[in-house]
Amino acid sequence: KYEKWWLTFGISSLVLFLFIVGFSAFHYGSHPPTGKVYIDPERVDEIVPFNNPGVQKVEGKEWDYEVVLVASAFYYNPPEIEVPLGSTVKFIATTKDVVHGFQIVGTNINMILEPGYVSEYVTTVDKSGEFLILCNEYCGIGHSTMTSMLKVV
Ligand code: CUA
Repeated sequence: KYEKWWLTFGISSLVLFLFIVGFSAFHYGSHPPTGKVYIDPERVDEIVPFNNPGVQKVEGKEWDYEVVLVASAFYYNPPEIEVPLGSTVKFIATTKDVVHGFQIVGTNINMILEPGYVSEYVTTVDKSGEFLILCNEYCGIGHSTMTSMLKVV
């Protein structure tokens, strides 16, 4: 009789544990690539929206700005991003060559950029200032100099 109870308890704990793990990953923003979209890394420059990297104001979406970003050894395009304080921003990023990181220092934004995949992150910028963006995946000789800047004004 008790076996059934323990089994139920065991399964419930497992489900709860998985839920917590899933929630933490979601909440703390350690995001793998979305993985649904495959794009040819060698043709990134021709593929929308990566043919036009930069900041764009958008209408009728849950976010106000889209930041399209292309990483390659050893820099980000655009090299600098500027968005207004209080706006909701969607980062849409990919890489043209090897795996790169995309970490915004002082925030919980930390994405991995993998060739062939699109990584996305939506956030509301509620702190003004300049935030260093850096690559936290070892990508070669220029890895330590691979940075960009987010300006919230
Ligand atoms: Cu790019 Cu390290």
